[in-house]
Amino acid sequence: MEERVISGGILEEDSSVELSLRPSTLAQYIGQTKAKKNLAIFIEAAKLRHEPLDHVLLYGPPGLGKTTMASIIANEMEVQFRTTSGPAIERAGDLAAILSSLEAGDVLFIDEIHRLPRAVEEILYPAMEDFCLDIVIGSGSTARSVRLDLPPFTLVGATTRAGLLTAPLRDRFGVLSRLEYYEIDDLREIVERTATIFDVAIARDAALEIARRSRGTPRIANRLLKRVRDISQVKGEKAISLGTTQEALTMLQVDQTGLDHIDHKLLLAIIDSFQGGPVGLDTLAATIGEESQTIEDVYEPYLLQIGFIQRTPRGRIVTPKAYEHFQREIPNR
Ligand SMILES: Nc1ncnc2c1ncn2[C@@H]1O[C@H](COP(=O)(O)OP(=O)(O)O)[C@@H](O)[C@H]1O
Ligand SMILES: [Mg+2]
Repeated sequence: MEERVISGGILEEDSSVELSLRPSTLAQYIGQTKAKKNLAIFIEAAKLRHEPLDHVLLYGPPGLGKTTMASIIANEMEVQFRTTSGPAIERAGDLAAILSSLEAGDVLFIDEIHRLPRAVEEILYPAMEDFCLDIVIGSGSTARSVRLDLPPFTLVGATTRAGLLTAPLRDRFGVLSRLEYYEIDDLREIVERTATIFDVAIARDAALEIARRSRGTPRIANRLLKRVRDISQVKGEKAISLGTTQEALTMLQVDQTGLDHIDHKLLLAIIDSFQGGPVGLDTLAATIGEESQTIEDVYEPYLLQIGFIQRTPRGRIVTPKAYEHFQREIPNR
């Protein structure tokens, strides 16, 4: 799959800066009012009771601030932040080792928790519920199970696909928090905050322009800002201007709505080859030469979110809004 500047997932270029851009308190975390308000109450209550926070599941599309929120939770609880991820834990023993190294109150963050192998996941059930570890010692007829106590801890899980979590795992989280795509104004604030950290000035209308084209996603906003900044600096600007921002984003092939050539290809295929749909996912995939799964997981969510396409029982259709975007005439259906 080709790399897209408007992808919500982490790209190579992000890794060097992301850590420095991460807000460290709830107050610095912009937007997500509902999730923030809930978590603030749970955190305060847990601290008053001198107990660890209940287990938290954060879910939502990539780049919306799940990892950031997890680290803020640890920071606000004033405990250690330990991190791992579903695909990194291959065997039950790996997770048992991590769990038994925890200290009381620690936050254990498991990213992509839906990708934990099933045998590993089963270790988590008693750990989350009763803070204990059931391990088998020996083998064959001499095998016996022993129960080890764990310090009380908080598991924070993150996933882009809450639907893929098994029910027993999902049920063991006391707090389920869904992160939403950001409002334009919140993204503008994030862009301005990042500019301050980069020590570069940016005009308000330029920050707003980046916000509009960032697909509701802070990671994309920060990435676009970085690219625009480079071009602005080469031009010798004192502050990033709207003109340069528009020029840079056009060069990056990110249109006014934050769509790129792959979005265009997908939408125009439905418009031109299928009269706006409905067209089945597999047919569409074959037409544009992509995997059905990629369309569903990567290309489609944002187009659905902004109402450019809809899913119907007979397949995908393009909406009048998308026709307008391309200044195309809406056919009579
Ligand atoms: N609410 C926010 N306020 C400011 N910056 C944010 C916010 N949410 C995310 N970011 C920034 O966006 C980038 C991606 O966030 P991250 O937590 O890694 O997303 P996720 O884990 O959901 O993929 C990070 O650099 C982070 O600092
Ligand atoms: Mg993350």
